[in-house]
Amino acid sequence: MASTQAQILVASNRGPISYALDESGTLKAKRGGGGLVSGLSAIGPEAGALWVCSALSDGDREAVRRGVGEEGVRMLDIPADVHEDAYNGVANSVLWFVNHMLYQTPLEPAFDAEFRRQWASFETYNRAFAEALAEEAAPGAAVLVQDYHLTLAPRMLRELRPDLRIGHFSHTPWAPPEYFRMLPDDIAAQLLGGILGADRAAFLTQRWADAFTDCCHAVLGPGIPSGTRIGVHGLGADADFLRKRSHEADVDDRIVALREQIGAGRKAIVRVDRTELSKNIVRGLLAYRQLLEDQPSWRERVVHVALAYPSRQDLAVYRDYMTEVQRLADEINSQYGTPGWTPVVLHLKDDFARSLAAYRLADVALVNPIRDGMNLVAKEVPVVSDEGCALVLSREAGAYEELGEDAIVVNPYDVVGTARALHSALTMPLDERAERTKRLAAAATALPPAQWFLDQLRALDA
Ligand code: G6P
Repeated sequence: MASTQAQILVASNRGPISYALDESGTLKAKRGGGGLVSGLSAIGPEAGALWVCSALSDGDREAVRRGVGEEGVRMLDIPADVHEDAYNGVANSVLWFVNHMLYQTPLEPAFDAEFRRQWASFETYNRAFAEALAEEAAPGAAVLVQDYHLTLAPRMLRELRPDLRIGHFSHTPWAPPEYFRMLPDDIAAQLLGGILGADRAAFLTQRWADAFTDCCHAVLGPGIPSGTRIGVHGLGADADFLRKRSHEADVDDRIVALREQIGAGRKAIVRVDRTELSKNIVRGLLAYRQLLEDQPSWRERVVHVALAYPSRQDLAVYRDYMTEVQRLADEINSQYGTPGWTPVVLHLKDDFARSLAAYRLADVALVNPIRDGMNLVAKEVPVVSDEGCALVLSREAGAYEELGEDAIVVNPYDVVGTARALHSALTMPLDERAERTKRLAAAATALPPAQWFLDQLRALDA
């Protein structure tokens, strides 16, 4: 077990490290990247920080059993069936869908007895976090609880340890009350009350923060009853890390390989996403096809490089979505492709070096989510771009609030409108493109991860 006297604690479902068992039974560790990891490293190990996360795979569970681990990380071995209900059942199939407004009537949602059973697991899962945090935290410690998986934990932790300073951060959008209230009333109240157990509830944009307070008023009545403070911290791109990492040899190799697939003298429309329903990859492909239809002069002169990495493949709807992305890419290629030109280059295998390579060479970046808490791709591309890149950006991404002025803004449902935006982006004069990219990069890096993290700690003290 890790230190019992942590001064700063972070809690999230997915932690900074994961383990896989190879054939010989050896555990192999894999470090994750991302804003929280670099944010935590910024405060340094001497600060006595501890990250509490969940074991997600058989490898992780085996690591916990063998006592293998990393200093500063405590992985919770929550029973696999409880985790399955909490993560796939409640968090990813319900809370993610509500906050991204992804449900499609008439089939969904239906909050039936099976959902209530999963909800009990969600409570158990949150309680396991609250108990571990209560056990590990030094008196008066700061605890930063992350995301929708852990909506109930702040209130539970508050009851166990009234001395702690607790923050909750939502990395997703928040739904407006008209949508949020499709949840059963008691569940809606529990979710809001869970977060209100924190001293501070923070969001990526003012829009999501306002939606949360609107939901509190609609469900719980006027006023934020516990006096929880509401904050906004717009997580930015990690410029230092990205600029350095994107010039390493493996990225240069990927650039050569991608250029070969694109073909000399052609423009590249790039997208990089988890294959996630909210990312709107299918409508992106439809818009690209519409562009080839409406503007035949682009045929043979442009390639859509779509990096769509697997995500949440335990859920059938995600597997189906991936199949549809693949099918549509194939269809466009057989419809328009010629012996020397593949209109869509689709990569489905997760490869960070290839993502950075695509960022560097993109002429146009397509970021068209239906709804997105922030969208860091929109912020990373301008930072890494070699020669400037036009950004086609959905007005429903949190990043729109900071980048909207220098992006070409789209309604993500409007396929024809998105095709027109792609055309404008492709024809943007190169000097204008470079100027806009500079301004986008400045806006995108205004709040780097380390600062984002420190700001939250400071705000908890205030
Ligand atoms: C979003 C969520 C994160 C989550 C990530 C990847 O960014 O806000 O909490 O970790 O997606 O999803 P996954 O289900 O693979 O953890």
